Amino acid sequence: MVKLENIYKTYISEGEEIHVLNGIDLEVEKGEIISIEGASGSGKSTLLNIIGIIDKPDQGNLWIDNIKIDVNQQNKLDEIRALKIGFIFQHYYLLPDFNILENVMMPLWIMQKRNVIIDNIQKQAKELLDLVGLSHRLYYYPSQISGGEMARATVARALVGNKKLILADEPTGNLDQENSYKIIDLLWNLQKKLQFTLIIVTHDRELAEKIPKRYKLDNGKLQSIVK
Ligand SMILES: Nc1ncnc2c1ncn2[C@@H]1O[C@H](COP(=O)(O)OP(=O)(O)OP(=O)(O)O)[C@@H](O)[C@H]1O
Ligand SMILES: [Mg+2]
Repeated sequence: MVKLENIYKTYISEGEEIHVLNGIDLEVEKGEIISIEGASGSGKSTLLNIIGIIDKPDQGNLWIDNIKIDVNQQNKLDEIRALKIGFIFQHYYLLPDFNILENVMMPLWIMQKRNVIIDNIQKQAKELLDLVGLSHRLYYYPSQISGGEMARATVARALVGNKKLILADEPTGNLDQENSYKIIDLLWNLQKKLQFTLIIVTHDRELAEKIPKRYKLDNGKLQSIVK
C-alpha cells in the first residue's frame, strides 16, 4: 500500500540545514497497522506528511497503492490524496463554520469537485458518524462538542469515501486517558471492519504497545522496534 525508497528531507532554518530524514525505506502492506515513534523533533510529522503527499521529499521515491508518486504533477497528487488518503491530526482542524455532518461530508464534496461521481454523500457521512457514535451531534458545530467527540468526528471525516490509507498524527495527543482508550478502540474496531491501512505517529505508550509493527525514527533513520 505504501512504499518509500531512500527518502531524504532537509529544512533550512536561519541559514542552518536540518537533516530531518536521511534515507528512509519503508514498506507497508494493505491492511497493516504500523506506528512511527521517536523523540519530539525527530521528523515523524515530516515523514507522515511526505507519505500523505502534503509535503515533498528532496530525494527518493514513493508509491501509494502501487502508483509511483511524481511530485511535479500537482493535479494528480491532489487526486490521489483526495481519493485514497484520510488524515487524522492531533489538532482536529474541523472547520468551525460548518456543522459536524458538513465537516464529514467535506472530503466527498472535494472529491466531487474533481469529477468523481459520488452517490449519497449525506448518507455516507451519516453512516460514518453513526459508526463513531455521533448520530446525535450531526447539526452541532465544532465549538459545541467535547474534545472526545471532536476526535471521533475527525475519524469519521478521515474515513469517509472509503479511504484505503489512514494517516494519524498523535490521534490521542489531545485527549485524557478515558477518551484516548475510546479513540484507540474505535480505530481498532473500524480497521477490523473496513480493513484500511493505518499509519500512526504516537508518543502514547498504551497505544504503541497495541500496534503489531512498530518503527522508531532516530537521526533521520527508521528502525524496527523489536518487542
Ligand atoms: N517548515 C519547516 N521549516 C523548517 N524546519 C522545519 C519545518 N518543519 C519541521 N521543521 C523541523 O524539522 C524537524 C522535525 O519536525 P517534525 O515536526 O517532523 O518533528 P516531530 O517528530 O513530528 O516532532 P513532535 O513529536 O514534536 O511533533 C524539527 O527540528 C523541526 O523544527
Ligand atoms: Mg509531530
